[in-house]
Amino acid sequence: MYPRSVSAASLRISLLLLLLLLSVSVCSELKVLVRLNDGQITAETLESDSERDIISVEFRHTDGTLITFLADFKRHVKILRALVLGEPERGQTQYQGLCFISRLEHGEIIPSEAMVRLRQKNPHIIRNAEEKRGLERMSMNMAVNLTLSWHLSSHIRSICRDAQDFIYTQEQDVKYWLQKGVESSVFKVFPQNIENAVLQSCSTTTDPWQPCSCSYTVRLEWYPCMLKYCRGHGPSPYKCGIKSCSKAYRFDFYTSRKQLCMWDEES
Ligand SMILES: *[C@@H]1O[C@H](CO)[C@@H](O)[C@H](O)[C@H]1NC(C)=O
Repeated sequence: MYPRSVSAASLRISLLLLLLLLSVSVCSELKVLVRLNDGQITAETLESDSERDIISVEFRHTDGTLITFLADFKRHVKILRALVLGEPERGQTQYQGLCFISRLEHGEIIPSEAMVRLRQKNPHIIRNAEEKRGLERMSMNMAVNLTLSWHLSSHIRSICRDAQDFIYTQEQDVKYWLQKGVESSVFKVFPQNIENAVLQSCSTTTDPWQPCSCSYTVRLEWYPCMLKYCRGHGPSPYKCGIKSCSKAYRFDFYTSRKQLCMWDEES
C-alpha cells in the first residue's frame, strides 16, 4: 500500500512539472522600450498565449493614459481600451474607460505562436516602428452589452469592465460577426433615434451637458506586424525575424454630454 501511494504522489509531481513546462512554452511576455510620437519613451509589454490564441500590447502614454490592445485570433476580434485620466478638480471622474471592438483582419499582427517565440537580444534598445501605417477612421455607431459580450469574445468582459457604458463597435463588423454565428443580442444600435450626421462634434460644443459626437485618436506605437523570411543554404526560406509597425486609429462615437469627452477640445 505504502509504495503505491508514493508512486502516485511522484506521478502527480511529474505531471505538474510537465504542465508547467507546457505552460512555459505557450505563454510569453516581452518588454520593449518604445519611442512615442511626442518623443517620450515608454515601456511596452507584449504578452502572448498560443493556446488561447491571443496577443496583448500595453503601454502608458505621457499624459498617463493606459492603452491596452488585445487580438483574439479565435474570434476574429480586436479590442482597444483606453483608460484616460480625468481631472477630479474639474468635476470629472478619476479616469474614464473607453473600449473599442472591431474585426481582426487576417495578417494584421503576427500569429500568437510566432509571438511566444519572440525574444530580444538587447532590451535597452529604444524601438521605432519600421513601418508607419496610416490613420484608420472608424465610426463606432453600435454598443456592445458587457454581460453578453462573451458570445463575441471571452476577453471583453475583463478588459472592458472599466468602460461599462462606453463599449463601442461598428456596423460593418457586426454584420461580419453575425454571419459567423454570433448572437445579435450582444449588439445594439447606439444611440437610437438620433442621426449621427446631425450631431455636433464635441470639439465645437461649448455646453458641457450637450450630447455630441466625440472622437478619440490613439496610435499603437510598436507591434510585430509581419514575419520576415531569410534564405539559408536549404531550399526553402525560414522565419528569421519580424517587421514592426505602428498604426493609428480614430474612433468617432456618440456621447450623451460633452463632459464625457474632455480630451476633444478645439486646438
Ligand atoms: C445587457 O444584457 C442583459 C442580459 O440580457 C440585460 O439584462 C441588460 O439590461 C443589458 N444591458 C444593456 C445596457 O442593455
